[in-house]
Formats: sequence, structure tokens, C-alpha cells
Amino acid sequence: MMRKLGVGLIGTGFMGKAHAMAWRSAASFSGEVQPVLISVADIDGVAAENAAAKYGFQRWTSKWQDLIDDPEIDVISITSPNRFHAEQSLAALAAGKHVHCEKPLAPNSDIAEQMYRAAEKAGVVTQVGFNYIKNPLLKHAQTLIAEGEIGEITGFRGIHAEDFMVSPQVPWSWRLDPTGGAGAVADLGSHILGIARFLLGPVTELFADLDTVVKQRPERAGSSVMKSVEVDDIARLTVRFARGCAGYIEANWVASGHKMQLGFEVTGTQGSLIFNQERFNELQLFRFDKNEASNGFRTIVAGPDHAPYGLFCPAPGHQIGFNDLKTIEILEFIESIQSGKAAGPDFKEAYEIQRLVDASLMSSRERTWVSL
Ligand SMILES: NC(=O)c1ccc[n+]([C@@H]2O[C@H](COP(=O)([O-])OP(=O)(O)OC[C@H]3O[C@@H](n4cnc5c(N)ncnc54)[C@H](O)[C@@H]3O)[C@@H](O)[C@H]2O)c1
Repeated sequence: MMRKLGVGLIGTGFMGKAHAMAWRSAASFSGEVQPVLISVADIDGVAAENAAAKYGFQRWTSKWQDLIDDPEIDVISITSPNRFHAEQSLAALAAGKHVHCEKPLAPNSDIAEQMYRAAEKAGVVTQVGFNYIKNPLLKHAQTLIAEGEIGEITGFRGIHAEDFMVSPQVPWSWRLDPTGGAGAVADLGSHILGIARFLLGPVTELFADLDTVVKQRPERAGSSVMKSVEVDDIARLTVRFARGCAGYIEANWVASGHKMQLGFEVTGTQGSLIFNQERFNELQLFRFDKNEASNGFRTIVAGPDHAPYGLFCPAPGHQIGFNDLKTIEILEFIESIQSGKAAGPDFKEAYEIQRLVDASLMSSRERTWVSL
């Protein structure tokens, strides 16, 4: 029997749009549980009204609390700036609603812990927007590693580098607001730290060096009044995994020329894997060939053999896109609501990722290794 799942969305910016599109396309794939777009909230009422008209929400509001009080809403999707995630999530959980929240979950791991404990107490389903992990080829990479296809793992090199903050004229914004947490290490680092955990398991120790390259920025676009920057632009980490191997991780939002270098290399005794989000329908696999002269990486191209690619397209190599990853995330969230089994990354996993972000700040400040 078809069951309706009322959706309330908070925020209508970059991620608000991505969530709205994902909920809409999830409605065309999901079976028994059908998402229905009930209401959208944004502190900017005009933006909320426009979003309601564009994406097909039944109503809009400039007060996110209206969504919490709305009995037709079962799920809250949170895409506001980081410093609002906790207040909005905790209110939704207290009202017994399922919560899908953007990353990073919270400004620090103490607040993230409160959030995951509140979710456990509420007995509802949570998920956090680490959409890149939903790439079918990352699942394949995880399986290849787990099945020993590249031998014993000897190292990890991970990076999330973009260049959207490189110009000193990029104005101050919520991304630089220390009350929302750290800088690049939280914004981008949380993605690659999450991927490192997804592929290789827990990190037990790390050493980090954080750098603020652009020391001040215009208070707002075009302003000559400058405001100092207190968060990091670049984080360089050395990490040790519980499984015994070690690696390097970099988060960098001033990496000139790089638009979406979210990538990794995993090396093993019998092979290696290379991935880069800029070509995310491809995974490079190296395995030693009997004939030395034929050694080399080969490209695995995404296709219906890598579920759930086939939901979007029956033909291999035709490629899925960024918003499809968000749809996969939302579909898994709906499945979890149906089955009660966590699809993740849930609030607990996001708390574990946040602990690594906090440990990076501490390590850099104290110039020392930090154990988790
Ligand atoms: N998963 C990803 O790939 C990804 C990518 C970008 C951003 N994000 C995350 O998504 C969140 C939002 O980022 P964005 O790029 O969409 O930001 P954005 O600035 O484009 O949009 C934020 C929106 O929230 C609204 N807003 C601000 N304060 C609010 C409040 N108190 N209540 C309701 N609405 C409020 C703003 O008016 C705006 O519409 C952040 O946590 C960010 O880290 C995730």
C-alpha cells in the first residue's frame, strides 16, 4: 500500500535546490513510500516563495519553525549554513521527525554528539549529505578493497581541492564564520575524511597542519571594509588507520585551477585504485599483469553493473551526474525510513567524521599527534 512521506525543506541555496530536485526525482523511483513536497522555509521569504513555485512545494514560509509544527511533515531536509544545523535538527528530532541534514553536521563534535544522541533517543532515521560516497563506483572500490583485489592495503592519499576561495576579493560569508566551525577542513575535509573511513575504516591517530592563506576579506561583496579570516584555507593531514596502514589527506579551497578534485589513491600489495570526482563515472584499477610489459592502470566505466546506476540509465558509459548522487542518497534515506535500517552516513557517522575535524584543529594548534 502506498504511504505518503511529507517533506519539509530548510534553505533554498545551492544545496536547497539539489535536495528539492533529489526529492522530486526520488518520487519517480521509490515504491511504497512516496515523498510529497509539503513546505519550504528560507530566512529570505522571497527565496522561499520562488522555491515553492519552482519545485512544487504546497506552501512556503520564512520561519523554519513552521515546518517543525506542521503535522503533514514527516521529514526535515536541512540545507541552511552550518551554524543552524544543530538547532534545526534538534527541534525536528524533538518533534519525532526524520532528519536529513547537510554536512558538516555541526560546528564541533560536542554538538554533533548531542545531535546523534538526540536522534537515537527519538528513534527516527537520520542521514547526512555526504553525497559523493553514494557514487556506485565508490561502492565498487570499497568492495574491491574488502575482497582483497588489490592485496593488503599499504597506503591512502586523499584530497578535496577546489579554488572558489582563492581570490582575496571573495567576500566574508557563513563559510568563514567560526561559530559554524572550521574552514576548508570542515567544509571539504569532511567529504574526503568520510570517504577515507568508508573505504578503509576508522582513523586512530592524526597529525595536521592548518594554514590560512588569505588573512582578510571584504566584509561583503564590493566593500572596502576588511574582516579578518579566522578559519583555515588549507589543511594537510597525516593519518593512521586502525587497520594498520597510513596516509595523507589534504583539504584546500584555494587550489588554483582545481574545480572539484575530490580524489584518492589507495595502494595495496597487489594493485592500486585511483579516483577523481571530476571524472566520477570512472575508476582506475591497477593489478600486476603476468606480462611486465602489459602492466598499467585500466579504466572501469560506470554502468548498470554498478547498482544503482541502472535506475538512471540502462546503458553503460552514458554517465550519471552530481544531482543523481543526491537522488541516490535520498532514495537510501527513504529505504531506511521504510526498513528502519540505517543507510548512512547517519548522525553517528557524521559525529565520527567531526571528531577527525576537531582533532585536526587540535593537532595543528598544539603541533602534535592526536589519538582518537
Ligand atoms: N553535500 C554537498 O556536496 C554540499 C555542497 C555545498 C554545500 N553543502 C552544505 O550545505 C549547506 C548549505 O550550503 P549552500 O552552498 O547551499 O549555501 P547557500 O548559501 O547557497 O544557501 C543557504 C540557504 O540557507 C538560507 N538560510 C540562511 N540562514 C537560514 C536560517 N536560519 N533558516 C533558514 N534558512 C536560512 C539562505 O537564505 C540560503 O537560501 C552547508 O551546510 C554546506 O556545507 C553541501
